[in-house]
Amino acid sequence: MSCARSKTLHDHPLNFGKFLTRAIDVFPFAMKTTLALCSVASISLIFYFAFSNRSHNFPPHPNVVTDFNQNGISADGHEKTNISHILFGIGGSVESWDKRRSYTELWWKPNVTRGFVWLDEKPSPSMPWLETLPQYRVSEDTSRFKYSCPYGSRSAVRMARIVKESFQLGLENVRWFVMGDDDTVYFPDNLLSVLAKYDHNQMYYIGGNSESVEQDVIHSYTMAYGGGGFAISYPLAAELVKILDGCIDRYDKLYGSDQKIQGCLSEIGVPLTKELGFHQLDIRGNPYGLLAAHPVTPLVSLHHLDYVESIFPNLNPIDSVKKLVSGYKVDPGRTVQHSFCYDLRRNWSVSVSWGYTVQLYPFFVTAKKLETALQTFWTWKNWDARLFTFNTQPVSSDPCERSVVYMLDRVESVGGRETLTTYKRYNIDKGENDCIRSDYTHALKVEAFSVSAPKFNPDLWNKAPRRQCCEIINGTKGADRVVQVQIRSCNGFESVTPP
Ligand SMILES: *[C@@H]1O[C@H](CO)[C@@H](O)[C@H](O)[C@H]1NC(C)=O
Ligand SMILES: *[C@@H]1O[C@H](CO)[C@@H](O)[C@H](O)[C@H]1NC(C)=O
Ligand SMILES: *[C@@H]1O[C@H](CO)[C@@H](O)[C@H](O)[C@H]1NC(C)=O
Ligand SMILES: *[C@@H]1O[C@H](CO)[C@@H](O)[C@H](O)[C@H]1NC(C)=O
Repeated sequence: MSCARSKTLHDHPLNFGKFLTRAIDVFPFAMKTTLALCSVASISLIFYFAFSNRSHNFPPHPNVVTDFNQNGISADGHEKTNISHILFGIGGSVESWDKRRSYTELWWKPNVTRGFVWLDEKPSPSMPWLETLPQYRVSEDTSRFKYSCPYGSRSAVRMARIVKESFQLGLENVRWFVMGDDDTVYFPDNLLSVLAKYDHNQMYYIGGNSESVEQDVIHSYTMAYGGGGFAISYPLAAELVKILDGCIDRYDKLYGSDQKIQGCLSEIGVPLTKELGFHQLDIRGNPYGLLAAHPVTPLVSLHHLDYVESIFPNLNPIDSVKKLVSGYKVDPGRTVQHSFCYDLRRNWSVSVSWGYTVQLYPFFVTAKKLETALQTFWTWKNWDARLFTFNTQPVSSDPCERSVVYMLDRVESVGGRETLTTYKRYNIDKGENDCIRSDYTHALKVEAFSVSAPKFNPDLWNKAPRRQCCEIINGTKGADRVVQVQIRSCNGFESVTPP
């Protein structure tokens, strides 16, 4: 049964067997069963169907914007938040660590990132502990706590207490406690860009929802999904740890550790501050559409990479993320940031998701359409495969409507201030289903895109968000085979408006 998947501690692996049918008319029954089972949420179905997810898309308003000098100190002596101010708590287990540790290795910086992986027991001496990995701590015994969710795993109690045990270590200079799973991949510089927007001396709870509406309906829209990682500021952690053990018993019916934490935070009265760069990745299939249309916000985390198709074709899950990370290392802030440009000479539309993919349409496509994620995936439970907390559009069944796709090939840093990334044509079906219309045959001659961009200034995340602009550099030699694109900030009154 689904509990076998409890090793991914924030999966919420409800298994309704026959209820997993797609048809919307069986959904109410499945819902009622869920509510009766675990009283996870008291959202009525009417509310669910009337619900509009638009309200989730407003970015929060940071309450401080301060200018810092080169040493990260502002005029009033306030020190900018840096990586050493974050204490990571990684929810692991001896059984899963060996397989999952390669996800942590992707982002952990020895002697730079601070934190621990929390295990259920001491690892056997035969399990070598590499210096390149976070140190482990063994969680306290939690057998005295109540846990009564029939489809869940007791390990949720241990996971919920990681924030408390981390706090009780009493480490100095911790501003944020960041909790996640052992298969959460962080992009630490971007996590920092997000956290540095907020005043750590206030009580903040920051993270993201599940992408699948069915998950949010069952497990709540008010909580940060633990697999995507979430942050709790020090003063909030200080209040949380005082009441957490009581909450764990009070919310014994809730499935996950993230839900128990949120239950406790609701007693304090601190709501979730949503940030769209945390990705629980509660989807199945190919995450391409999501990563090719990221919102204008830093990419903070990815999760569930064992449950989706590799983000780069022909690479295993770990090597795919390594490839994404290779771009991130050269320009963290620009990773998967979107830019659109038109080629007025050839009537083309180009959509760049920096460090990941380029799409070429041999006709003009509106910005509105280009920014909408292609649905290359379906929902976690597949109850209604189309219901996400963000807009999607179907991939057209007509090859003459689809984009020609290019995937990241190489990343170079140019002179310290610029980057050059190249993207190679990805031929999913060896050309068998290519459109044979003349505009397409012309476009299909393009083998690669070569994209120049200035390195992204992370201070821009403290300003009003705006997608950056790009232009096609025409007149270059071999421009039929390799198209050159320059990304830059937009000029005043510049817009992506078709002629
Ligand atoms: C981070 O800021 C602290 C001050 O709170 C400072 O002592 C430390 O050197 C900084 N660390 C890094 C890595 O910049
Ligand atoms: C981390 O720091 C310690 C103490 O300074 C040092 O011995 C160790 O080699 C460092 N580890 C890595 C991986 O840099
Ligand atoms: C590129 O082509 C456009 C449209 O024909 C033209 O207006 C522009 O001057 C060209 N730019 C360069 C750099 O050749
Ligand atoms: C581009 O579109 C315009 C207007 O639809 C058309 O007149 C022109 O011939 C097209 N150019 C090319 C190269 O397809």
